[in-house]
Amino acid sequence: MKYNPSLLEAVASVPAASGHPDRPAEAMQGTLAIRHTLQQWLARIGGMDAVTLQPPSGAAGEYTGLLIAKAYHEDRGEERSEVVVPDSAHGTNFASAAMAGFEVVELPSGEDGRVDGDALEAALGPETAALMLTNPNTLGLFERDIESITDRVHDAGGLVYYDGANLNALLGQARPGDMGFDVMHYNVHKTFATPHGGGGPGAGPVGVTDTLRPYLPDPHVREGSDGYRLVTPESTVGKVHGYAGNWLVLLKTYAYIRRLGGAGLADASAKAVLNANYLAEQIDLEVPYGPFHHEFVASAGDRDAADFARAMLDHGVHPPTTKWPELVDEALMTEPTEAESKATLDRLAAAFEAARTADEETLSAAPTRTTARRVDQVAAARTPRLSWQALDRDE
Ligand SMILES: Cc1ncc(COP(=O)(O)O)c(C=O)c1O
Repeated sequence: MKYNPSLLEAVASVPAASGHPDRPAEAMQGTLAIRHTLQQWLARIGGMDAVTLQPPSGAAGEYTGLLIAKAYHEDRGEERSEVVVPDSAHGTNFASAAMAGFEVVELPSGEDGRVDGDALEAALGPETAALMLTNPNTLGLFERDIESITDRVHDAGGLVYYDGANLNALLGQARPGDMGFDVMHYNVHKTFATPHGGGGPGAGPVGVTDTLRPYLPDPHVREGSDGYRLVTPESTVGKVHGYAGNWLVLLKTYAYIRRLGGAGLADASAKAVLNANYLAEQIDLEVPYGPFHHEFVASAGDRDAADFARAMLDHGVHPPTTKWPELVDEALMTEPTEAESKATLDRLAAAFEAARTADEETLSAAPTRTTARRVDQVAAARTPRLSWQALDRDE
């Protein structure tokens, strides 16, 4: 989870930020100027030609991007039915492709954890609408053959979708558009600093190349001789969220980019990569693959990864994501981000060590020092409490 600077909260709390979105364009030129500038900054960062700010999360961005890909193929008279997704991809990639009406073709990873050229060739065909890829991938590995991968998909008539959840590894260093990606989303909570999509409200802007610009959601902010206007793109996929999307989250993204500037963003990604590699070196667990970009995946070995992470909670740290990606047994995936200092990384390494050396009894009782103990995750998913309720003391 990334550090959310208080500066961003201050900016989002400015009364002028909360004007009613139904005001006519001429009465909200300042707001539209910020939205337009953010569209342009994100396009520049991703190497895209145009950006919509409307989708409210990374997953919603994926869905929007795939609706755009579908509209593009249909306009060309092609009904392509398949989306290729690597087995290391985030679960939302599979779900978004299915929700957008595609069949999912799972792409097995190569021995080195990256895209396997032969497997890709076998997965592509006349039905391929798109390949979805994150780079660096969820193992923190950069796809070295990325240009040949995007060329192959284009040769098969498909589009290449960039899952931008890992873009903070590349900020100011490399751009998806230059690698041959046609459409992408930005996870602003991972790449910049805003509340997380899942814990929301989030934002998942989508960038496209010129060819896909006509399909962007409605409305889109454009600058004309008479100022900023809300326009309906010619072949729009329609609305994917009310008004401008989650405006205050977008305003925080704007403030973060503005505060850091180009050099600051490049420095943030360099530090995120350094932090991940430093931490991976400090912990005494099997860490397959590497060297890494902004995240790495260790294995809890013969321990249960979820228990391992629960034991880390007792040491006051945010534990790793567990049991995913499935390419690593009992996976512990850690993305320290640029915001951690050497001291906090060392504290995290100490928590890894404490869990690694804990006996079975400690592991199966953990966490013991948190307000909520062992949470029934299935019940939480099946019967969620969506509003705050006082708990009985015994619960
Ligand atoms: C690789 C990857 N893709 C997509 C997503 C989905 O993003 P969101 O949680 O904003 O829907 C995530 C979430 O963290 C992710 O890690």
